[in-house]
Amino acid sequence: MNAALELHGIAKRFGATRVLRGVDLSVARGERHALIGPNGAGKSTLFDLISGRTRPDEGRIVVAGRDMTGKPPRRVSRVLARSFQTTSVFGGLSVLDNLRCAALGAASSRFVDRWLPSRKIDERAHAMLDAIGLAERADEPAARLAYAEQRALDLGIALATDAPLLLLDEPTAGMNRAEAARALALLRATTEGRTLLVIEHDMDAVFGLADRISVLVQGRVIATGAPAAIRANRDVQEAYLGGVAP
Ligand SMILES: Nc1ncnc2c1ncn2[C@@H]1O[C@H](COP(=O)(O)OP(=O)(O)OP(=O)(O)O)[C@@H](O)[C@H]1O
Ligand SMILES: [Mg+2]
Repeated sequence: MNAALELHGIAKRFGATRVLRGVDLSVARGERHALIGPNGAGKSTLFDLISGRTRPDEGRIVVAGRDMTGKPPRRVSRVLARSFQTTSVFGGLSVLDNLRCAALGAASSRFVDRWLPSRKIDERAHAMLDAIGLAERADEPAARLAYAEQRALDLGIALATDAPLLLLDEPTAGMNRAEAARALALLRATTEGRTLLVIEHDMDAVFGLADRISVLVQGRVIATGAPAAIRANRDVQEAYLGGVAP
């Protein structure tokens, strides 16, 4: 069993609205997998289900071979880290302390019976600080960073947890083209060898990052495959050209 994440027949409704209608998805270990789809397709809802914020009405969520369906976030957070569509840094804490918190939080939740010395936490935070290119801003309050830098810090926080599976919800949301390109390059450099499920609207944006892409349209995965195959896929083209495109 090699999959980092398996979703089987996930369904979710809010009142009368069926948001997810039987989603099957598999992310292999070490794979960078992009989930694309138009506004309201159900992408963030799927992340809420995977990370235990809400429960599916139907279906099974398996992370690294363990059934996580309906498990609370504190359990699920031992096996995955998630960043949100909006920034979630501690504005009053320094950039470095944000990363220390992430490393510490992950260490204490995952290694309940294994003490991780503060030196190790510090090392991990500093390594991440360098990786996201914010070493010169280490001691500044995170609130003083520019928006794109805060998103880089969001990424650093997710990475600093060292979780085996990363879920990133639109890490380039709200950025201009140049910022988004830089953010994607950073993402490519920092997630080499990690297992990643990343939400994006834009197929072009993830083309150079993803090993595989899944396309969610109106609560269903209509195609999964290598980027070139997805781009050439008739159903995908129709979904994107047929009026539901972002
Ligand atoms: N808690 C909720 N209660 C009711 N409806 C909800 C709730 N959360 C999401 N929805 C609805 O579910 C649908 C899917 O929302 P979701 O946020 O998952 O889409 P998305 O693919 O992430 O879209 P976007 O690209 O805009 O972020 C939308 O129609 C939304 O209004
Ligand atoms: Mg969303």
